[in-house]
This record gives sequence, C-alpha cells and structure tokens, in this order.
Amino acid sequence: MTRKDSDDEDTQQDTTETQESSSILASDEYVDIKDLPGVGSAVASKLKGAGYVDVISLATANPQVVSEVCEIGEPTARKIIAEAREAAKMNFLSGLEFEDKRKSVQRISTGSQTFDILLGGGVESQSITECYGEYGSGKSQIAFQLAINVQLPKEKGGLEGHAIWIDTEGTFRPSRIEQLAIAKGLDPKEALQNIKIGRAYSSDHQILLVDKIPELINKDSKIKLIVVDSMMALFRAEYVGRGTLADRQQKINVILHNLQRIADRFNVAVYITNQVMARPDVLFGDPTVAVGGHIIGHVATYRIYLRKGKKGTRVAKLVDSPSLPEGEVTFQITSEGISDVEEEGKRK
Ligand SMILES: Nc1ncnc2c1ncn2[C@@H]1O[C@H](COP(=O)(O)OP(=O)(O)O)[C@@H](O)[C@H]1O
Ligand SMILES: [Mg+2]
Repeated sequence: MTRKDSDDEDTQQDTTETQESSSILASDEYVDIKDLPGVGSAVASKLKGAGYVDVISLATANPQVVSEVCEIGEPTARKIIAEAREAAKMNFLSGLEFEDKRKSVQRISTGSQTFDILLGGGVESQSITECYGEYGSGKSQIAFQLAINVQLPKEKGGLEGHAIWIDTEGTFRPSRIEQLAIAKGLDPKEALQNIKIGRAYSSDHQILLVDKIPELINKDSKIKLIVVDSMMALFRAEYVGRGTLADRQQKINVILHNLQRIADRFNVAVYITNQVMARPDVLFGDPTVAVGGHIIGHVATYRIYLRKGKKGTRVAKLVDSPSLPEGEVTFQITSEGISDVEEEGKRK
C-alpha cells in the first residue's frame, strides 16, 4: 500500500486517510457487543454501562468481574468473553504493513523544541502519551498547549486539527486557551470553538465520554488530539477500599484500551495526565508513585515524568519509550505557553 505524502492533496486527504487506515487495520472492524452470540440487548447495555463498550474491551475482561457487574453467572460470562475474543480476532500485520502504518504517524509540537526532540519530534498520533507529576508540575499546561498547537499549520508544528478534551477535575480554562491562541496568532474564539470539552463527573461518566469519541470523530474528521485530564482523579476518589481495586483496574484498563484503539483507528494523538503525590514514607527509589502506575505503564506508549526545576522551569523525563533513549529536558511555562528555556549555554 502506498501513500502520497505530498501536501497538495489536502482537499481529499481526510477521506483517503480513513479508507487507508481501515484497510490497514482490517482487524479493527466494528462488531457491536450486542451482536455477539449469547448477548442480548439487556446484557449489552449492562456491559456497556460497566465500561465494556466494544469487543476488544470485553475480550480482555475478567470473567468474575463481568459476572458480577452484569449479574450473570460466571459460565455465561466466560462464554460471552470467548465470543468476544473470536469476534476480535487480532490479525497480524506484516512488517511492511506495520511500517506503512507507522509512516502515517503525525506529530504535534509541545511548543518547546528540546521537549519535542525528547519525544522524537513531538506528541505522536497512534500513541498514548502520559505525563505524570505532582500538582502544579505542568501536566495541564502541556494539554492546553497541545490543544492550541494541534490547530496550527504543519510547518508550525500542528496538524490543522481539532481537539477533544475530557476534563475530570474541572480545571479546563477557556481563558487560558484564548491566551495561548493569541500568543500563536490564532483567533481566540475560533480556537475555543475547535475544542470539544466533556466534563466527567464520575468514572462511569468518563467511560461513557470516551465511548462517545468515535462518534465525534466521525462527525468531525479534523479531530487529531484527545486529552484526558486527568485519567485517574475520579477513580481515585471513588474507589477507596482494596476490595474494589480489581474492579477499578479493570475499568481503567478498558478506558486505556479504548483510547489506544481510537488512536490507532483514527490516527489521532492521545494525551493523558496522571497526578502523583510525593510519598515521604518511601525511603528508596522514586518518592513519587504514579497512581494506577502499573496499569497505565503497560498501555501508554510514552511516559513522561514532570517536575519543577530551578527558577520556575520544568523538567520532563522520558521514562518509557519503545524506541527512544531515556532522557531529560528543561522547558518553561510562561503566560505565552510552553517554550524552551532562554539562556546562554544549556545546562546539563
Ligand atoms: N498564565 C500563566 N502564566 C504563567 N504561568 C502559568 C500560567 N498558567 C499556569 N502557569 C504555570 O503552570 C502551573 C500550573 O500547571 P498545571 O499544568 O496546571 O499543573 P498540573 O500538573 O497540576 O496540571 C502554575 O503553577 C504556573 O507555574
Ligand atoms: Mg492539572
């Protein structure tokens, strides 16, 4: 499969891209869970309510958890999961097909050149990029900047695209978007118009909002960035006892797999944040531990640890990446957004 990569095909680019990616990702054909043998619409809606929104999430589900949340016997749950696995049959891509898919990866600039270099050119489509760090470390500011930069033309580090923002903490600020838009020479109202914001009030609500994303992208093919700020806050607030930990992890897994699937299927970038708390009781190793760290760690393609640096700067450390070396860079957050630190002679 060949792709033209010239810039003069803009007018037909969107439809071409959809067709191509769907043929590359033949394994991703959509089977609604209610069409699985043994799943009626009643069970399907229970499943969806519990976060099992598609065959992939059901295929990887735990039978006990499915049995519990759907109030069905465990043998039935097992049977349904087996059907989901069958329907989800993961096709293998040849190395060449895989390379082709990688070629369609697009990048959004963070606003800082050194930060972009750390990430191999910016925040990637087809991947989940996670920033974790303490309160005030800049996780949301990066999200604001990406939601603006995605709208910029390609030569300025953008994708002439739109964004979806799932806000779980109530920290989305239209005024900040406007401020950053003006700094980049965009019309502030238009920039706001190009961002769809979903405020999630519970973890189940968060699951439903993520479930809505394919529909939104089908309506607006310019969507190139999904922000979830933050991924874990509602789960952390709702699931306090250890007894429900497995359930919580299962749901987080479902969301993350859905996000990864959306990233692949629509060639969009997914940026999620994860607040961590300093743990003074941890004597050895990293005193900041990502909440839900292990689960996210297995799914996020790029994990960045953010912390405050000297003189109001921020330090980003690439922790996990399939092909890039680990490394650290310093950037700054000003009223105009994310940028390189201006100083002669870079610090190490
Ligand atoms: N308008 C602004 N001008 C300069 N710095 C800002 C502005 N808005 C936010 N910041 C910086 O960003 C920090 C908050 O970062 P934020 O991304 O909200 O943290 P979190 O990691 O908790 O999401 C503030 O402490 C401040 O340093
Ligand atoms: Mg924040």
